Amino acid sequence: MTVSQKAPLDLVRPEKLIDPAPLYRELRDQDPVHWSDLAQAWFISRYEDVVACFRDPRLSNNRLQLYEYQFRDVGPEAIPAFRQFLQGQMSMKDGAEHFRARRLANQGFTPQALEAMLPAVRRITAELVDRVQPLGRMDVVKELSCQLPPLVISEMLGIPAPDRERFITWAQPFVDLSNFSPGTDLKALALRVEEATRALSGYLGSIIEERRHAPGPDMLSRMILAQQETGASQEVLLANAILLLFAGHTTATDQISNGLHDLLKHPDQVRLLQEDPNLVKSAVEEMLRFNPSVPFILRLAAETFELHGRTIPQGSMVFLCVAAANRDPSVFSEPDRFDVTRSDGPQKHLTFGFGPHNCLGANMARREIQTLLEQLLQRMPGLRLDEEQPPRPKAPNFLFRGFDSLHVRW
Ligand code: HEM
Repeated sequence: MTVSQKAPLDLVRPEKLIDPAPLYRELRDQDPVHWSDLAQAWFISRYEDVVACFRDPRLSNNRLQLYEYQFRDVGPEAIPAFRQFLQGQMSMKDGAEHFRARRLANQGFTPQALEAMLPAVRRITAELVDRVQPLGRMDVVKELSCQLPPLVISEMLGIPAPDRERFITWAQPFVDLSNFSPGTDLKALALRVEEATRALSGYLGSIIEERRHAPGPDMLSRMILAQQETGASQEVLLANAILLLFAGHTTATDQISNGLHDLLKHPDQVRLLQEDPNLVKSAVEEMLRFNPSVPFILRLAAETFELHGRTIPQGSMVFLCVAAANRDPSVFSEPDRFDVTRSDGPQKHLTFGFGPHNCLGANMARREIQTLLEQLLQRMPGLRLDEEQPPRPKAPNFLFRGFDSLHVRW
């Protein structure tokens, strides 16, 4: 059987999710512009091709029609708030329109804004670690990785403390949207997502009105200022505020558990890190490179184009395989080796994408992971995978990679 016939199916088989590296190698070596009948999509897997595609304006981010297709059983009229959210948010836009929408949130991610957020990230992380530290064992997903990212985003947006639980509950259908598997009831999910979008829009809309009169140092206040400068509508402002919750939640939750799992599977690397805490930054980059939480990033071909002699027709779905690019030996030496001291290609991995849509929250996510790692190593010496309770990878879904549970001991 050729790689063309088996690659995408294998990607969704649970055993392949444990170690997809051999498949990535096959794709890169034998079929770098791969058409999959099963997925009805193209898969680009070599580092330099993926980077070129991220830069290529012929590949569009406007993927609204795919959500509409996914939710075809309920029909567009049943999900107006969700459609408005999709239409307004930056990650669905191209060119100048994208640039304008991104400007709304840019100011919240400057180095100064991130520096100002750091004490809060440390405090939130410490509070979570305090709760579990005396127990000697925990499920990382339940106790830490599911909680840290939405708590940090809530803080960043300036959501008042008493409302945070409610705010985070509204994010759950969006999380489920990233976790769906063949058994998921898409109709019910679409309706839950619609309800949550309405609730979030109503809630954030009223907070935005308050902040218009009494601005603070928070992200929403910065976005209101940027709205005045860019002339963006209220719908676009709301869509991008909701996007921050959505974009920085499951991605970071999964990335924390993927990274910790990889690290703890390599006790020699944990030792290196304990002996030299200065390695923490390169360790975080390696945790990001090795197993991205978003292994494939989707684009739509806005026009027909050629790549390595293959013709990609207009309208095709094109998956940019960042997980395969991150293991490309032309950029990373011994790419399948997990190495916290790695000095080749620091920050060259494509886990946060590349080009105009590269992750706006990348440095925030880096600081979150670094803070958590530092506190775990300091306060839980002896941290290791729990041999009595094996890790449970998420249901097969090749778009998102993470764990349902990851039990550790110390
Ligand atoms: C480790 C955690 C994270 C990962 C792996 C991740 C990954 C990504 C990727 C791959 C993209 C690019 C998608 C594309 O090219 O279409 C992206 C975009 C984005 N991310 Fe993240 N992300 C993470 C955390 C965050 C956080 C914490 C925030 C905000 C608080 C955030 C906000 C965004 C936004 C707003 C975009 C859209 C950028 C645009 O379209 O211009 N992300 N992220």
